[in-house]
Amino acid sequence: MKPVVIAPGDGIGPEVIPYAVDVLKHFHPEWEYIPVHLGYECWKRTGDALSARTLETLKKADLILFGAITTPPDPKYQSVILRIRKELDLYANLRPVFGPGFDILIIRENTEGLYSGIEWQEKDRACTLRLVTEAGTRRIARFACACAKKRRRHLTIGNKANVLKSDAYFLQICIEEAEKTGISIDKKYIDALVLDVLQHPGRYDVIVTTNIFGDILSDAAAYLEGGLGMLPSANIGRHLALFEPVHGSAPDIAGKGIANPVAAIRCVALLLKYAGERENARIVEEAIQAVLKDGIKTPDLGGDATTERVGKAVLKELASRRQDS
Ligand code: IPM
Ligand code: MN
Repeated sequence: MKPVVIAPGDGIGPEVIPYAVDVLKHFHPEWEYIPVHLGYECWKRTGDALSARTLETLKKADLILFGAITTPPDPKYQSVILRIRKELDLYANLRPVFGPGFDILIIRENTEGLYSGIEWQEKDRACTLRLVTEAGTRRIARFACACAKKRRRHLTIGNKANVLKSDAYFLQICIEEAEKTGISIDKKYIDALVLDVLQHPGRYDVIVTTNIFGDILSDAAAYLEGGLGMLPSANIGRHLALFEPVHGSAPDIAGKGIANPVAAIRCVALLLKYAGERENARIVEEAIQAVLKDGIKTPDLGGDATTERVGKAVLKELASRRQDS
């Protein structure tokens, strides 16, 4: 029995996560599901967005299913998800993007770079330190190489080494690790890479890059799948993993019941794959594809279905598949 922590969070998080949980329970009713409260709503209620107790629960989990959190523009308020990524040392952020003729795995370094948290304000300027360490780079490079080795043995290193010393360092270490693994590599400046991924997605396999570049590249690449409502992510550490839709809390549509639950449900596919259940992960993807093919889509994809309609349709697909087999 695996303990799975469920953290719906804010905004559309609590609207989409219940369907993801139902999908997971379809395969694993026997697992232990532990709900936790965190985020902005929790902060408003309790004065604490991420309590020490919740953090302990997260650290003890094997698997975490996370919705989204709102970060208010208050200088005293620290982003909860960034704190969790750091505290749990979830160093690899995987964002798969696939469709007809392309299958890309974006791997974003998740603990340092421009998200180092080392920043300060002076009288007439503000500074953020972009930190690239050897240890931090080697582990993400090794992780990316290991993924590439299991896929099409090709790694693209997104960088801005022509301008930034920290990126020249990142690039050099990635090349060293790729050479050790024996996979082929491509170095590509991040600005040109964003465009090329959109124009020629079929050319790419695994892409590794620094934190902020991976953040931007993955949102741009979501375009290939119809938008942010479709993209799941896995934040992987040494002993545990957190799965989170890329879309965020979307306050503009929160409470309307029209958020796309596909990204959250796809998080379950990533979770199952991480847990070694490739076949179950494939079944979840198939069920999603079948529902979309039937035209059951939320407004972000041009449809008029509600979150509930899409969520329930996926569950129904899964139920009929179980009867098939
Ligand atoms: C993401 C998000 C986060 C990030 C925000 C919410 C802190 O945009 O997961 O891509 O910048 O990493
Ligand atoms: Mn982002």
